[in-house]
Amino acid sequence: MSSRKRRPVIAGNWKMNMTPSATKEFIAQLYENVKGKRGCDIVVCVPAIDIPAVAKACQGKSIKVGAQNVHFEKSGAFTGEISADMLVDAGVKYVVVGHSERRQYFGETDETVNKRTRAAIAAGLTAIVCVGEVLAEREADITEEVVSRQVKLALADVTAEEMKQVIIAYEPVWAIGTGKTATAEQAEEVCALIRGVIAKKYGKQVAREVIIQYGGSMNAKNAAELLAMENIDGGLIGGASLKAVDFSVIVDAAQ
Ligand code: PGA
Repeated sequence: MSSRKRRPVIAGNWKMNMTPSATKEFIAQLYENVKGKRGCDIVVCVPAIDIPAVAKACQGKSIKVGAQNVHFEKSGAFTGEISADMLVDAGVKYVVVGHSERRQYFGETDETVNKRTRAAIAAGLTAIVCVGEVLAEREADITEEVVSRQVKLALADVTAEEMKQVIIAYEPVWAIGTGKTATAEQAEEVCALIRGVIAKKYGKQVAREVIIQYGGSMNAKNAAELLAMENIDGGLIGGASLKAVDFSVIVDAAQ
């Protein structure tokens, strides 16, 4: 399963950072740093309220717009929520689903992750589905079980054809925002496991093509080593995506 067949996807996850009025300058600066680097797809997953400004700033540029969450119903009485169709209409192409912060703080479950993934796919979005173990699970040596289970439940009723619209982001929870990166070997081991789970469910072809990202304190210094791993096809980057230069160094590492 050579990684050369897969085009890396480098996605920033801004989380709850950056006001709409700050986005124009940031995107201009980021574009200065990444333009002409065509070896990977570049995505910024931004707060919902930033989407119109970011979509405008990214027009005609090689930076694609992503959201950080999506509701699973098409429309209706769901105060505070945003549907997949609304995201598409606003120019969004990607959406993060099931981030560990949503699982931890906002009651996200494997079932709602699956519903959001299916809603995103149905609307034509690419879902970046996040999975990953917490520290206690790694220490209890159940990472494999936890991550396999999350992947299988997230992809329930997702067809092989629809897998073209799915990216899996392996994000060990203990590595997120902590400065503690998984070693390249640890990350590769779990990403390979995920590809194996997908191979079992969908066959070798789908497994060969699916993009699997690593996320968790990926930065300008460690990106090259992580991205050199056979089963790591990109990154979901939090903190370092808020610094245009650092993010562009990660984009360089994916060329
Ligand atoms: P981090 O966040 O890069 O700041 O660790 C990654 C993520 O949560 O997607």
